[in-house]
Amino acid sequence: MPLVAGVDTSTQSCKIVVRDAETGTPVRTGSAKHPDGTEVDPRHWWDAFQEAAAAAGGLSDVAALAVGGQQHGMVVLDADGNVIRPALLWNDNRSAPSAEALIAELGEGSRDAGAQAWADAVGSVLVASLTITKLRWLHDNEPENAARVAAVALPHDWLSWRIAGYGPAGDPTAPLGPQLDKLFTDRSDASGTGYYDAATSQYRPDLLERALGRADVVLPRVVGVAEAGAVAHASVAGSSVDGGALIGPGAGDNAGASLGLGMTPGDIAISIGTSGVVSAVAPKRTADGSGAINGFADATGNALMLAVTLNAARVLDAAREVLDVDFDGLADLALQAPPGSDGLVLVPYLEGERTPNRPDATGTLHGIRLATSTRHHLARAYIEGMLCGLADGLDALRAQGVSVDRVMLIGGAAQSPAVQQIAPQVFGLPIGIPEPGEYVADGAARQAAWVLASAGDPAAVAPAWSTTIATTLDADPKPVIRDQYAAVRDLTEAN
Ligand code: XUL
Repeated sequence: MPLVAGVDTSTQSCKIVVRDAETGTPVRTGSAKHPDGTEVDPRHWWDAFQEAAAAAGGLSDVAALAVGGQQHGMVVLDADGNVIRPALLWNDNRSAPSAEALIAELGEGSRDAGAQAWADAVGSVLVASLTITKLRWLHDNEPENAARVAAVALPHDWLSWRIAGYGPAGDPTAPLGPQLDKLFTDRSDASGTGYYDAATSQYRPDLLERALGRADVVLPRVVGVAEAGAVAHASVAGSSVDGGALIGPGAGDNAGASLGLGMTPGDIAISIGTSGVVSAVAPKRTADGSGAINGFADATGNALMLAVTLNAARVLDAAREVLDVDFDGLADLALQAPPGSDGLVLVPYLEGERTPNRPDATGTLHGIRLATSTRHHLARAYIEGMLCGLADGLDALRAQGVSVDRVMLIGGAAQSPAVQQIAPQVFGLPIGIPEPGEYVADGAARQAAWVLASAGDPAAVAPAWSTTIATTLDADPKPVIRDQYAAVRDLTEAN
């Protein structure tokens, strides 16, 4: 029974799961933390990967592995394979003006025309998260660094390259040296760059040139959904396996989770993590000029339509801080207030917001009265506000014609009894809560198993590892919650 490993190089940590390639049975796991911050030196991802691999008992016995990772982060490499500056992550908002400039330029001065043109070209209206806006920021703010760029990678493809043994010249952990043309990626992560079109499966060097001023840089080769991009260096993985460990194409984290959950068209996943993500698998990407929906690719050849909010799990962390309670304490408090919290509404743009696109917004609390100045009203308002932001995302998906047959709620916050009670009230739909799991790493492991099977049989399909829905919550619509929220959400344009 061959083993496979799935890696999730996420914003906060690196997680590794080792599974049986045939049955999907979990065998070992390991994890290690990443540093905080919205710009991070990628060497921390490499260090954390090695620490997590050691914690998982090493990877010498895995026959294939794949890496899922936080999307969009800009990893710029010079000709010697050195990282030129710390990576700007998806949640770094400094390139918001660059996004607006690129939109205006493509629209020849008209924002609306520019927004639609970007949506048509690459599936997404640009926001600060997308890699291309970070490249424009680099070009405008750090021209010496921009001039040194020889290759642009994303977190998952940079880590896959390091696992294959490539890296900076002279680095003893990179015995194969700086071969930039060995970088590879997959459709899902490429589709979040802003210079790759998932509809045609082609890079758009013309758009890259608009951002960076030139297009003579190496971009990772986009490999097929079940194609190995490389073999792991024996010092990293697969040393006790014939032929070494194949490295799968990997995926952006949302596509990885969707593969881990086994999503097919009609399925919706609502993930409450560092980002809040409402995602749907669809046969083809759309081109939403309003910018609410990103038309990315999934990891199986379909489209992955996403609405992404910046204010999700950390809104609940903020509530815990304000109220000085733990996870369960917050749920206990919130469940003592009625639906709608007697009119107390939090618009939760605590980190600015991406959907809707308000990078400079702050949060606002509306409807404070003596009667609502209680800890339980406040606790509930934080949870309702965060869920309303996600419900707006689901509406935006519906507006794109996406069918909603089954809704799953994932992420640590989905285990909160208050979130479980309030979510069916806000969404007005039945909701399934899968067993808690590392869905991104699981999806990467499932992909690795698929790559392994395809190496022997090109017609092999992804193994049918099933996801167990642990809890099914009945729909319990309480329209007051969203009505109140909608009434105040847009009160201040800058808000
Ligand atoms: C998706 C997005 C985030 C990151 C981090 O567009 O920016 O979900 O992938 O997880």
